[in-house]
Amino acid sequence: MDELITQLYPLPSSERQLKGLYLSHNLRQYSHVSKKPFVYANFIVSLDGRIAVPHEDGNGQAVPTSIANERDWRLFQELATQSDLLISSGRYLRDWAAGRAQEILRVDDPRFSDLKGWRLDHNLPPQPDIAIISSSLEFPIPEVLTKSRRKVIVFTTNNPDLERVKEIEATAGKVFVAGDSSVSGEKMVQQMHELGYHTIYSAAGPKILHLLLKGGVLDRLYLTQTNRLLGGQPFSSIVEGDLFDAPIGVNLHTLYFDSHGLDGLGQLFMSYNLANQPIPKSEMNPQ
Ligand SMILES: NC(=O)c1ccc[n+]([C@@H]2O[C@H](COP(=O)([O-])OP(=O)(O)OC[C@H]3O[C@@H](n4cnc5c(N)ncnc54)[C@H](OP(=O)(O)O)[C@@H]3O)[C@@H](O)[C@H]2O)c1
Repeated sequence: MDELITQLYPLPSSERQLKGLYLSHNLRQYSHVSKKPFVYANFIVSLDGRIAVPHEDGNGQAVPTSIANERDWRLFQELATQSDLLISSGRYLRDWAAGRAQEILRVDDPRFSDLKGWRLDHNLPPQPDIAIISSSLEFPIPEVLTKSRRKVIVFTTNNPDLERVKEIEATAGKVFVAGDSSVSGEKMVQQMHELGYHTIYSAAGPKILHLLLKGGVLDRLYLTQTNRLLGGQPFSSIVEGDLFDAPIGVNLHTLYFDSHGLDGLGQLFMSYNLANQPIPKSEMNPQ
């Protein structure tokens, strides 16, 4: 795998190694400076804005196989590696139970053995804890979650089915109500803060990105924009939900061009800071 990519922003432009690129963003520093959790999310998207299209087996949607690629997956893993809590959804656990999803952080994969070492060096357990967001609470708890030592926490809406809450708390972990008809990003992240989580990675989809944005709790958005157009209906985009009261502005943080991605078509690795979130001066120009 050719490791070189081109940094286009911040200037001056330079050649960078793919491996280690997002580790160099040093995401664990932020919560120490701001004394609040640092929350970030990541998507891979086609040039025409699709993050998910109908699954080949006819059930639900999945990341298009024509845009998913190893180089982006490496960076996804580097983002997950730096977290102490991963946000996922009821949908993800249903897919996992149906054999259509995999472990988010692949510390067991020999390709990512350096990332396992990175967590050890930073005194972090092999896997981050996991937060599941679900209104329905209708999801199976995979054994792999309960067997490992990591904690599972669940965020749901008002008046949950108390029998189901008992079942989940007996097998997996604590259930928190954080919102009326929708989980509130603000209440949820406040609860995560109180539980001691500092660096929080959302690997979930467009509705969860909406609640993080609406709650004003997202700090950074990572986007891989692939040089392929897909067309087709239905599809998911990066954010889905009601119109925001006011448009949400972002500031470009980094931009890299990966000319080797997608068999030479290329892809852009972008990251944005949310405009309403203070950015430590030291990180305005990442090296
Ligand atoms: N290309 C990419 O980078 C990328 C990234 C992430 C996901 N995806 C794809 O996008 C598609 C959708 O992803 P997803 O289903 O994880 O994302 P999602 O649409 O954000 O979330 C789905 C589930 O989360 C719960 N949920 C969402 N918003 C909620 C709210 N406001 N309050 C309470 N619960 C809420 C619901 O669970 P319950 O139904 O249990 O109530 C819902 O089914 C999937 O095909 C996935 O593979 C692609």
